[in-house]
Parts: sequence; C-alpha cells; structure tokens
Amino acid sequence: MRFHILTLFPEMVMQGLNTSIIGNAVEQNLIEINVINIRDFTKDRHKKVDDYPYGGGAGMVMQAQPIYDAWKSIVAQVGYEPRCVYLTPQGQVFAQGMAKEYAREEDLIFLCGHYEGVDERVLEEIVTDYVSIGDYVLTGGELPAMVMVDAISRMVPGVLTNEESGSTESLEGGLLEYPQYSRPANWNGKEVPQVLLSGDHKKIESWRHEQSVQRTLRNRPELLEEAELSRADVKQILK
Ligand code: ADE
Repeated sequence: MRFHILTLFPEMVMQGLNTSIIGNAVEQNLIEINVINIRDFTKDRHKKVDDYPYGGGAGMVMQAQPIYDAWKSIVAQVGYEPRCVYLTPQGQVFAQGMAKEYAREEDLIFLCGHYEGVDERVLEEIVTDYVSIGDYVLTGGELPAMVMVDAISRMVPGVLTNEESGSTESLEGGLLEYPQYSRPANWNGKEVPQVLLSGDHKKIESWRHEQSVQRTLRNRPELLEEAELSRADVKQILK
C-alpha cells in the first residue's frame, strides 16, 4: 500500500513514521510513504503558499494552486485518482473499522491543512473523504495523518508479525483489551493473576474475555451496544 502525504512540513511526517513497526513495514516494502512538500509546487516568486482570507478574518488560508498541482503530480505518477483524505475537525471521526477499510486501498492521499484552512475550491476538486481524529483542534493535519497511517498500516497483511495481534486487540469485536503481565510473577508485592500461571488455556481465554467485558463496561460502556456478546457476557454485565 502506498501513502501519499501532502504537507508543508515534510520533516515532521518523515521523522514520525520512520521507526518501529511502521519503519520496518517500509523497509520490507509492505507499505510506501511518499511525502510531498506542497511548497515545491508553488508558482509564486517568493514560494508563498498562503494568503489572506476573502471577507476578512484572522489567519491565512492555504491557496488552491500549489495543493492542486502537488495532487496532480501524484495522480500522474500512479495513473488514477486515489481516495484523498482531508484531515479536519469537521470530518467523520476516525475509528478502527475505517482503518480496516482504508487498508484495502492501493494508494491513499492525505492532505494536511494548516493556518486557518484551505481554499474550499481545491477541496471540492480533489478531496473524497473528510476525516477527524477526535473532538479537539490541532495546529495542523500532520499528526492526524500520522495517526491514520499508523492505524491503517497495522491492518495491512504482514505488517504485524504476529498476525493474531491484529484481530484480538482492543476494539476488534467491540471490546477493550484484557490486561497483560510479564515476568517476574511477583513485582513490588503484586502477584500475577493465578489463572495465567495455570497452563489451562480454556480457563485463561475465558478469564481474559471476562476482563475485556469488565474493562469495557467500566471505561467505555457505550461500546457494549455494538459489541458481540454471549449470554454469559450479558449475565456478567448485569451482575
Ligand atoms: N486538524 C486539526 N485538528 C484536527 C483533528 N482533530 N482531526 C483531524 N484534523 C485536524
């Protein structure tokens, strides 16, 4: 899968995505991250990419031309018009199901806005999806783009070495993840739950599932509405 990120701050994006699991995925050619500096496409003598808003008001607006030309360079390179995500608090709120769906795309373009916004006309021309990463306002779209690239990449087959961890972790099946423990069995006077040392895999699985249900009930009860629950789960919830 290829990600194309249109930004005025390419170093920020490159530094954020070159380590750990995502860095390895790039090295193994499972994903490609193509960072495009919008400023490289300005036709302005002074390399300007923004201007005052028509109608007045605070801040600057990113102009249409450099963004459009940067986008066209991607389209020319890949030979079709991939889905183009504009990161904005006004968009649909990003969730795990969307990450899974985007992971099926061959190419995905992200447009990172800055200042007071982007000229609406270029958004109308190139953007197919408006996405927010949550109900708070950031200074630009770079962090949201990185969040999305991370979440989507781990859904690309082969990126997670243990294929299982992609499907059993938090939010798959609508529940939060159960707690994990590692050595030593006693740390700081705190014991690892006995069941995990029992070697009884059926018991362990059912204990973990109960923990997931309890956690979800405690921290994110609204998720239970959509979760796949057994009769035993419902009994546990009502206890
Ligand atoms: N740009 C600024 N804030 C944002 C948010 N919460 N989500 C996506 N893009 C943004």
